[in-house]
Amino acid sequence: MINEKVRNIMNEQIKHELESYYVYLSMAAWFHSQDLDGMGHWMRVQAHEETIHAMKFFDHITDRDGTVGLLDLKQEKTAWTSAEEIWKDAYAHEQFITSKIHAIMTVVRKEGDFSAEPMLNWFVNEQIEEELNTQKIWKQCQTMGKTKEGLFMLDRELAARIFPAGSPFDPLAYQQPAGV
Ligand SMILES: [Fe+2]
Ligand SMILES: [Fe+2]
Repeated sequence: MINEKVRNIMNEQIKHELESYYVYLSMAAWFHSQDLDGMGHWMRVQAHEETIHAMKFFDHITDRDGTVGLLDLKQEKTAWTSAEEIWKDAYAHEQFITSKIHAIMTVVRKEGDFSAEPMLNWFVNEQIEEELNTQKIWKQCQTMGKTKEGLFMLDRELAARIFPAGSPFDPLAYQQPAGV
């Protein structure tokens, strides 16, 4: 059975992951409104990945005979003035999430919860990638994104990001096969 302190902080993390979903979906909406559809697509994929993160915590609590209690979601910001501002925010958001993951690890270690450590290690590694991706694009936005042509080139590059297999968020998943 899951330790109560570990359960509580993981339960809070479900909220942070779902808030990440909401943040990235808002960012996708803004990009689409600016005709930056490649960046909008990238953010939609990112948003979907955050729901997978939330469900990893959901399943971990449930599998260890704990009860999940979903909390209210907060939305801090829904409008931006530039693509660069969004990527800066996305990077800052991932740094915030990293601090939350590390706080969970501190509790897990203090409570001697060896069963939680392997799944949490996955998140520690994942956050290195999450920070790297957003920081890299933010930097690219600061250099090649300075001109309209550069920004559209970056936008086209980001359109190539692939959804995890079978994602219900993938618009292609809803396309009818030819001839039907
Ligand atoms: Fe996440
Ligand atoms: Fe993330």
